[in-house]
Amino acid sequence: MFQSTRILAAVVAASFVSIGPAQAAGDAPAERQAVMKQNGAAVRALAQMVKGQTPFDAAAAQLGFRTMNTAALGFGYMFPQGSETGSKTRAAPSIWSDRAGFDAAVAKYIADTSATISDLDSLKSAFGAAASNCGSCHKAYRTK
Ligand code: HEC
Repeated sequence: MFQSTRILAAVVAASFVSIGPAQAAGDAPAERQAVMKQNGAAVRALAQMVKGQTPFDAAAAQLGFRTMNTAALGFGYMFPQGSETGSKTRAAPSIWSDRAGFDAAVAKYIADTSATISDLDSLKSAFGAAASNCGSCHKAYRTK
């Protein structure tokens, strides 16, 4: 019991070291840009399927939505105080001055990417709804 408590304390201490506020702020712009790039790759693959340039594949389409949804779920945590600058970030100051609005945009993106894809028609409508978030959030919360 004592032993496991000590191990737990060590693990907790170690995780504080690795995700301390200073480091999180320093890495956050690069991390969120990497997540957004994966997001963009998933969108491109889905768009090709929607346009009929690649054959419909239910598993691949669902995977694309999972990738976007995972990005969406983490996104709200990738803009800590102090990460307004760095790594050539294009995050707009409005993220921090209008946090409630940004959180609502993230929540909408999470909802719209949690769709279940069963056939090409469901992919088309779910994709349209999910992809509309990209432009609207970038317009409000990303700099030119
Ligand atoms: C809730 C807001 C939000 C949504 C939704 C969103 N983005 Fe972004 N995106 C951002 C912000 C903010 C940045 C700038 C991040 C930075 O530079 O720190 C960004 C940056 C990017 C980048 C540039 C990454 C880089 O290398 O600098 C790409 C590509 C991108 N988004 C694609 C997408 C696509 C595709 C979608 C829709 C499927 C999407 N985004 C949805 C907020 C959003």
